[in-house]
Amino acid sequence: MTVLSEAFRTRATEIVGRYPVARSALIMVLHEAQDEVGYIDDAVIEEVADVMNLTAADVAGVVTFYTMFKRTHPGKYLISLCTNPGCGMFGADDTADKLRDLVGPEHETTSDGVMSWEQVECLAYCGIAPAAQVNYRDVPNLTPERAERLCGALRGGKELKDAVDELWADAKLPNMSPSEPSEPEASAPEVSADA
Ligand code: FES
Repeated sequence: MTVLSEAFRTRATEIVGRYPVARSALIMVLHEAQDEVGYIDDAVIEEVADVMNLTAADVAGVVTFYTMFKRTHPGKYLISLCTNPGCGMFGADDTADKLRDLVGPEHETTSDGVMSWEQVECLAYCGIAPAAQVNYRDVPNLTPERAERLCGALRGGKELKDAVDELWADAKLPNMSPSEPSEPEASAPEVSADA
């Protein structure tokens, strides 16, 4: 039994046809597959490899490199928390512990299918550490307390946009305004040649 539909195969063939080399279309085809199935497990890897005339190892190498490709079905809301050193200095590890309490083990979906979470590399949002995303929507300062607030709001049925907007409303944003020019430092006293 195949996992991917005939419609997927048609789309994949059309996408591959846009490129001089089939392998160049792999990421786009993987996105199509993930959109259809929700994740990319070994069965999906085999079928994508078959459609693209690549080996399963070729496809698996790309799937396991990019964190946007999920190996298991994520929950309706996927919380991605940066735990790189920049966010780690601002308590990201404590937030990760909190998410383990609130959501469960990383990469596992809650029994109601509502939530899952993962650790990710730098989101290039280090100024709002600990930085996070929910379904790729940026979330600032995800401290343990704010993680609890976020999970409570999502479990309570609040719209994702509203839940995230509330966290932006009282985020501690870095001061991006240009700083006042500082006073020039007093110049060193001149030393005379015959001193
Ligand atoms: S280190 Fe976390 S966003 Fe850059």
